[in-house]
Formats: sequence, structure tokens, C-alpha cells
Amino acid sequence: MKHIYKRLYIILGFVFFMMVLTSCKHGEGEYHSINDKIEAESKHYLGVTVSSEDHIGDIKTIQITEGEHMFLIPERKSQIKSYACTECHTKPLYEMQSHDVKKAHWDIDLDHANDNTMNCVTCHNTNNMNDLISITGNTIDFNKSYQLCSQCHSKPFEDWKGGAHGKRIGGWVPPRLSMTCVNCHNPHQPHFESRWPVRFNTQKVKERE
Ligand code: HEC
Ligand code: HEC
Ligand code: HEC
Ligand code: HEC
Repeated sequence: MKHIYKRLYIILGFVFFMMVLTSCKHGEGEYHSINDKIEAESKHYLGVTVSSEDHIGDIKTIQITEGEHMFLIPERKSQIKSYACTECHTKPLYEMQSHDVKKAHWDIDLDHANDNTMNCVTCHNTNNMNDLISITGNTIDFNKSYQLCSQCHSKPFEDWKGGAHGKRIGGWVPPRLSMTCVNCHNPHQPHFESRWPVRFNTQKVKERE
């Protein structure tokens, strides 16, 4: 009789050992977070490898990590007409500024916040024009200009990180590529004018009169 118990203990011990061994695997559908689950299960959905990679095409991207979110945004520097700024900005601004009627950046008309709160050098780094600058004097890369905006617009920024503000390009499966703030908002004139819907219902207007 005794040796049967002994065998039982050995078997139970082995089963327990296997449970410990496999408990951290994904076989049971146990994931640390919903994001982990989506990422793992979308990789090989019904035997097919799904990815948004194909939809990204030839958009040049950079990868960013903000809090727990890691995603791609479009690269900016190659899109900015007058970059690199230091092709002209080789000396301090006051030495370059003239009283010509036609200014170098005549096409930039700042209409963002109150003139007392914001001017060109709130965002542009006079020590090195190739970078942006934070309120505390730290440099910010032009490719990461969302960091500039986030200083003053924390609510849209938080929403954007989670994917609620702004637009996702490609598909819903990883990798995630989201437009960055300046893809939609001109930093010099960020406000959108209110518009009527494309199909304006004139009949309803008549009825209301
Ligand atoms: C083709 C030459 C040229 C390039 C390229 C250029 N700048 Fe300038 N920029 C100037 C000159 C000249 C001035 C000063 C005189 C003026 O305002 O006309 C100036 C002035 C400025 C000022 C001060 C404007 C003011 O009204 O006080 C800012 C800010 C500025 N540039 C930012 C940039 C940034 C950022 C870039 C790159 C994205 C850039 N510039 C690229 C020529 C250039
Ligand atoms: C709120 C922050 C902010 C302010 C204020 C601001 N800029 Fe900019 N500026 C930016 C950002 C961000 C970009 C890059 C946008 C992008 O990625 O397309 C930029 C781009 C530029 C460029 C390159 C544009 C191009 O297409 O070549 C120039 C030149 C420039 N700024 C000059 C100025 C001047 C001059 C002023 C003041 C009249 C000014 N900026 C005020 C944030 C700002
Ligand atoms: C130094 C602070 C500061 C920075 C940096 C800044 N903003 Fe603003 N922004 C303001 C203020 C102040 C206003 C005007 C008050 C308001 O409407 O919230 C404003 C207005 C706006 C508006 C219009 C809001 C509306 O109600 O229509 C948008 C959009 C916007 N900013 C986007 C941006 C983007 C995008 C960036 C980065 C390129 C940026 N801002 C950087 C302070 C800032
Ligand atoms: C895909 C385009 C898109 C992107 C990307 C985007 N926005 Fe917007 N944003 C909009 C639109 C559209 C509105 C609504 C305008 C309205 O209702 O008048 C808006 C509204 C805003 C407003 C004013 C309303 C509010 O909620 O306070 C601010 C400020 C703003 N965005 C900042 C940002 C910042 C900062 C980023 C980047 C972190 C960003 N946006 C990214 C399109 C975009």
C-alpha cells in the first residue's frame, strides 16, 4: 500500500512542477495587459501574420516612447522646407536682424497665443536654430515637437498618447503609426476655424425660421 502513496506523491510533485513551469507562458490566454494580449494574438491571427507595416508605405518614421506607450510618428526634419536652419543662422539673431521691409520669414504670421505670452523664441532655440527649446531651456528635437506642445496642452497630449486625439495611419494592428501634432496643427497658427458640415441642410434652416 505504502509504495502506491509514494508513487502518487511523485506524480503529484511532477504535475505541480509542470504547472509552475508553464504558469508564465501565454498558453492559457493569460497576459500582463490588454496591450500585450492584442500584440501577441494579432501577430499570428488564424495562422496569418498580420501587421500594419504594409500600409505605412514609404512614410519615414521614428519610434518614440512616452510613458507606457511606444509607437511610431512621421519624421519631420526632411519635410521642413528651410531645414537646416543653420545654413543661414550662423550668428546671433540680433546680428542678422535688419530693418528691411521684406523679412526672411515674411510668410510666417504668428497667431497662436497672446503676444505677451509667446513669440518666436518661446519655441525656437536662438543658441542653435536647428533645435526647438522648452520653457525651462532644454533642447527639443524638431522630430519630437510634440514635447514642445505638451508643455502647455497636457490634455490633448495625454489623449494623443493613448490614441484618442489625432489620427492613426495604417491599421489597428501593430506597429502603431500616429500623426504627430504638427501634421495637423500649424504651430504658428494652430487653431482650426469652425466649419459647417459639407452637406449643409438648407431645408431644416427654412423650417426653423
Ligand atoms: C535662407 C536663410 C534662412 C534660413 C534657411 C532660415 N532662416 Fe531664420 N532668419 C533668417 C534671417 C536673415 C533672419 C533675420 C532677419 C529677418 O528677420 O529677416 C531670420 C530670423 C529668424 C527668426 C527671428 C524672427 C524675428 O522676427 O525675430 C527666427 C525665430 C528664425 N529665423 C527661425 C528659423 C528657423 C527655425 C529656421 C529653420 C527651420 C530658419 N530660421 C531658417 C534667415 C534664414
Ligand atoms: C509654439 C511654438 C512656435 C512658435 C511660437 C514659433 N514657431 Fe516656428 N516652428 C515651430 C515648430 C514646432 C516648427 C516645425 C514644424 C514642422 O515640423 O513642420 C516650426 C517651424 C518653423 C520654420 C520652418 C518652416 C518651414 O516650413 O520651413 C521657421 C522658418 C520658423 N518656424 C520660424 C518661426 C518664426 C520666425 C517665428 C516667430 C514669428 C516662429 N517660428 C514661432 C514652433 C514654433
Ligand atoms: C508656451 C505655451 C504653449 C506652447 C509651447 C504651445 N501652445 Fe498652443 N496655445 C497656447 C495658448 C496660451 C493658446 C491660446 C489659449 C487657448 O486657446 O488655449 C494656445 C492655443 C492653441 C490651439 C488653439 C486652441 C483652440 O481652442 O482652438 C491649438 C490647436 C494649439 N495651441 C496647439 C499647439 C501645438 C500643436 C503646439 C506645439 C507645436 C502648441 N500649441 C504649443 C500655449 C502654448
Ligand atoms: C489628425 C490630426 C490631429 C493631430 C495629430 C492632433 N490634433 Fe489637435 N486637433 C485636431 C482637430 C481636428 C481638433 C478640433 C478642432 C476644433 O474642434 O475646432 C483639434 C483640437 C486641438 C486643440 C484645441 C481643443 C482642445 O481639445 O483643447 C488643441 C489644444 C490641440 N488640438 C492640440 C494638439 C496637440 C498638442 C497634439 C499632439 C500631441 C495634437 N493636437 C494632435 C486635429 C489633430
